[in-house]
Amino acid sequence: KQGLQVAIDGPASAGKSTVAKIVAQRFHYIYCDTGAMYRAITWKALQAGADLDDEATIKQLLDQITIRFEPGTPTQKVFVDDTEVTLAIRQPDVTNSVSQVSALPAIRTELTARQRQIADAGGIVMDGRDIGSTVLPHAEVKIFMVASVEERAQRRLKDNAAKGITTPLATLKHEIEERDRKDSTRKVSPLTQAADAIRLDTTSLSIEQVADRIAEIIKEKE
Ligand code: C5P
Repeated sequence: KQGLQVAIDGPASAGKSTVAKIVAQRFHYIYCDTGAMYRAITWKALQAGADLDDEATIKQLLDQITIRFEPGTPTQKVFVDDTEVTLAIRQPDVTNSVSQVSALPAIRTELTARQRQIADAGGIVMDGRDIGSTVLPHAEVKIFMVASVEERAQRRLKDNAAKGITTPLATLKHEIEERDRKDSTRKVSPLTQAADAIRLDTTSLSIEQVADRIAEIIKEKE
């Protein structure tokens, strides 16, 4: 096997994807954003006008599409079949519906299978909510990243500004808390720290500091 499996989990806007990308680059690992996969099927369901509780219909939609990543700067590009959805899946309509779709067991089963396939050869940094607990229970490195709601809302505000999204801070805080609540209380593979995961509170750490800490942990295991 070439390289380790690195699982990075945690609540919304804890900085997982930013750090996961940096770490993947340093080790020449593949980066897989599993949240983007849940966002992509949510985008598809909204496009199709599907009822977001209609598990059978949404599963059918998922079976019909491929979700692909392509390299790009500053972020990877995301495609649903031949349509680029990189920006569309970050819009508030998808963000505020994704927890409803990601709670559907059939959707989780299918995306978990696709994620395991991507991670199979190792040399991967995968971020999400249930990577260390469910998708890759044997990952050599498991990180659980947390930060205060205030800090996460501030970070999201900055990210959004760059994308031209102008949701106010108080609304962002509320949306983050709401998404955490839904993700933590769903029946199938809820957001939870795996028993063997290392908890990293990033509230007062810089991106570089967090990346350095994870890099150290990987080097110890490599
Ligand atoms: O990471 P991101 O915030 O883009 O994830 C969007 C949503 O996708 C989460 O709020 C959660 O509902 C869902 N998700 C999940 N399991 C994962 C990754 C994301 O349920 N492994």
